[in-house]
Amino acid sequence: MDSILVRGGGELNGVIPIAGAKNACLTLMPATLLTEEPLTLTNAPRLSDIRTMTQLLQSLGAEVSALQGGKVLAMSSHDIHNHTADYDIVRKMRASILVLGPMLARDGHAVVSLPGGCAIGARPVDLHLKALEAMGADLDLRDGYVHAKAPGGRLKGAVVEFPIVSVGATENALLAATLAKGTTVLKNAAREPEIVDLAQCLRRMGAQIEGEGTSTITIQGVDRLGGGTHPVVTDRIELGTYMLAPAICGGEVECLGGRLDLVGAFAEKLDEAGVSVTETERGLKVARKNGRVKAVNVTTEPFPGFPTDLQAQMMALLCTADGTSVLEEKIFENRFMHAPELIRMGAKVDVHGGHATVTGVEKLRGAPVMATDLRASVSLILAGLAAEGETVVSRVYHLDRGYEHVEDKLGACGAKIERIKG
Ligand code: UD1
Repeated sequence: MDSILVRGGGELNGVIPIAGAKNACLTLMPATLLTEEPLTLTNAPRLSDIRTMTQLLQSLGAEVSALQGGKVLAMSSHDIHNHTADYDIVRKMRASILVLGPMLARDGHAVVSLPGGCAIGARPVDLHLKALEAMGADLDLRDGYVHAKAPGGRLKGAVVEFPIVSVGATENALLAATLAKGTTVLKNAAREPEIVDLAQCLRRMGAQIEGEGTSTITIQGVDRLGGGTHPVVTDRIELGTYMLAPAICGGEVECLGGRLDLVGAFAEKLDEAGVSVTETERGLKVARKNGRVKAVNVTTEPFPGFPTDLQAQMMALLCTADGTSVLEEKIFENRFMHAPELIRMGAKVDVHGGHATVTGVEKLRGAPVMATDLRASVSLILAGLAAEGETVVSRVYHLDRGYEHVEDKLGACGAKIERIKG
């Protein structure tokens, strides 16, 4: 297993290009199942999660070709001969559940393995299933699989009110509703930029959708969808992660392709902490020039609130802030597993239930640490860049699920970082 070696202490200065969003790409790819015509995604990120979704779609009979080094995904689903998403693939990645809605909408039946447990909490899929049931699906849960059928071969429009905001359940329902008979209204829908991107792509394919980006989305089902070409939206989590690099280490980094509307609540917190964020013609420029950052309190919330996927990285910053910060995690239980690793590096963090109190120290010290999930692993790299001495982050396969070329991107800004093949 590979690990990442970081020698901390230096400022970071330079330019980092931000890739297309992993989470958008993972919901755009299953949209190919809704049409027999080709669907092409440009600006795709080159990540192991995207390769897992590729394998899953191929196992169903879709053709998926990664072109231009993986930046373009050319997909065609004219022959879907298998309607079972197997446990062996689904267990690797929860987003696999997103093939359920489209397969059911297209052919009236699908069998999808239930995703297994996950390091950051229970993460059930009940809301996905309830939405599809409201649209007329008969669901039978047996042997670890959801066996789904649409009576008469077609889902029907429905009013679906989500009890809590769920990105994945909103996506599954939105995908399914495009081909359902009649009108579907999704209430208390997620408003994330990835949902807006999905709706825009589906509209290019001929879907009739209104209200994406608000909490009520209305979909008028159509009889068939066509293909198209769609650019994947910028990855706001990768963007936020690299915005934190100069905030933690000092220096100035311009994130190419960055947009304030993607990271509004997060950029406000950086500003409160004393880090400057400015819009440029090419993206966002982030600089920290005047000593330590100030402590700030952070609560994770659905978009447009502060994203849970930036909580671990923000904690790395606050470990060296002047004062005491409280981080409240409201989306996932058990998402502070980076805290004990940061403590190994000299951080003062006290986790109590859904809160973490972080008392800033002047300097972190390098240490061997272990990545527990995707965002935790990058938070340890950021902390290592700010620490005195060497940090070795092991189990970086988590990192490769969500960050392409992390060593090259940070290395180009002066970071001393290398991958140790293991
Ligand atoms: C997506 C993102 C993930 C991000 C999360 C929250 C992808 C591939 N992943 O995950 O990176 O951290 O949004 O922004 O896009 N819940 C239920 N029942 C369900 C579904 C969800 O109780 O059927 C709960 C979850 O346990 C969680 C909350 O709802 O507490 C929000 O989860 P959700 O928005 O669904 O997250 P994902 O779509 O899995």
